[in-house]
Amino acid sequence: QEFDIVLRNACVNGSHTCDIGIKNEAITALGLGLVPTEDTEVIDCEGAVVTPGGIDGHVHLAQDRSPRARAAGYVSADTIETGTRSAVAGGTTTVLLFAEQAKGQSLKEQVANYHLLAQEQGSYADYGFHAIITDPTEEVLENELPILARTGGIMSMKLFLTYKHMRISDKQFLKALKKARELKMVALVHAENGDLVDFFTEHLEEMGLTEPMYKAIAHPLEAEAEAVNRAVTFSSIMDTPMVIVHVSVQEPMQIIRKAQSLLKPVFAETCPQYLLLGKQMLAEEHFCGAKYICSPPLRSYPKEIEAIWRGIVNGTFTIFSSDHCPYRFNDPQGKQLGFSRDCNGDPKGIFTKIPNGLPGVETRVPLLFSEGVLKRQCIDVKRFVELTSENPAKLYGLYPKKGAIQIGSDADLVIWHQQESFIPKRLNHDRDLHDGCDYSPYEGIEFLNWPRMTLLRGKIVFREGSIVGKRGYGQFIRRKPCSLPFQRRMGKQWNVLQAAL
Ligand code: URP
Ligand code: ZN
Ligand code: ZN
Ligand code: ZN
Repeated sequence: QEFDIVLRNACVNGSHTCDIGIKNEAITALGLGLVPTEDTEVIDCEGAVVTPGGIDGHVHLAQDRSPRARAAGYVSADTIETGTRSAVAGGTTTVLLFAEQAKGQSLKEQVANYHLLAQEQGSYADYGFHAIITDPTEEVLENELPILARTGGIMSMKLFLTYKHMRISDKQFLKALKKARELKMVALVHAENGDLVDFFTEHLEEMGLTEPMYKAIAHPLEAEAEAVNRAVTFSSIMDTPMVIVHVSVQEPMQIIRKAQSLLKPVFAETCPQYLLLGKQMLAEEHFCGAKYICSPPLRSYPKEIEAIWRGIVNGTFTIFSSDHCPYRFNDPQGKQLGFSRDCNGDPKGIFTKIPNGLPGVETRVPLLFSEGVLKRQCIDVKRFVELTSENPAKLYGLYPKKGAIQIGSDADLVIWHQQESFIPKRLNHDRDLHDGCDYSPYEGIEFLNWPRMTLLRGKIVFREGSIVGKRGYGQFIRRKPCSLPFQRRMGKQWNVLQAAL
């Protein structure tokens, strides 16, 4: 057997040490004492942990192309180029991006636009798309979506229960879920009660309470809990696999856990910000609170953070994604984070004008390794791999091509190596990260490990602090249906009326 690369002495998923042989983009051998030929590159892992490349199931890049973002004047800090460059530098080899349909627009056309954009900008990581459906018309559900799922390899849709320009009614929600079931797609749901959020937001605005810290009050946990309860109920009625994305707080997590214990097809995602940051960040001076505006908002520290950690440990969370959605803090036009200046020239602003989202595609995998496996020691490497790679691969139809260190899987690998000089002692955005943003919410955090190398389909793309991959090497990946286990009612014969009877 000939190899392009042999990784020697790799501690595979933290469990046992062997060599990994790679040929033509794939893993072709696992064993002791693999024999290199003259042309084989041999990398000695010296017993370091090797994990499958990270899969980030929730990444917003270049979304300023959508008419909605344009109208608001928001400019995403990352293109597909800079965002995926940042991903591989943090051990993520596959990202799932959002192709967003604006109301009144064709979904097919939007997906075509994003394909073109990825071609133009060039991706460092492999990628797929979730279809954001904001306007589930007959045309979209009956004509466009079946083509995207059956020939386009897009096996997931994201639905919003909040945001004025994106949310759908309960009836539309049910229709979309019914279609998702038929097409074997997974539904991602942004679950916050939009009316409840609007009600509080308007009230706060009337009272002049518009500093960033009021974001947390405008989006109470009840808004999340109510919408999660409704989404889980609908998923159950429609018998459609559903992922509740960016779960931020205990109550909705408990609703999900109960549904899971009843074998409902409900999966859950949380994100680094809900494990590490509390809402007190929103009150940072010099308007720095604007850096931490996201939906759902940051919650109480440490109470809710500890609850979310329990969900990481006890299996409630299926996947751990970044929800990378970057906007620069300092924008020459002064528009970006809802800036204006007060009479002293100090920045101030209105939270409703601040675009939602934090950067984090690069820090996601190293943060969970450092905080969960090494500092808290509350999860082992196996659970870490499940959350960051294996489960997202299964949930989103990429497994076992992605998300596994197995013969035949893509050679997407991360080599960890503790105590190397390139591990950031105190994270500094400009020195350590590779994205297009100008800050990281995790600045100052000490990392106890960081990927020494990232390989994507047998090519080293990141090595000891430097990007060595090529822009455009990343490929679009056609996906299959979800392969995580869940209980299906009445199999193929299922129909709405029978299910209700
Ligand atoms: O605040 C967030 N999460 N922004 C990104 C858009 C979304 O809702 O996922
Ligand atoms: Zn969302
Ligand atoms: Zn400041
Ligand atoms: Zn998001």
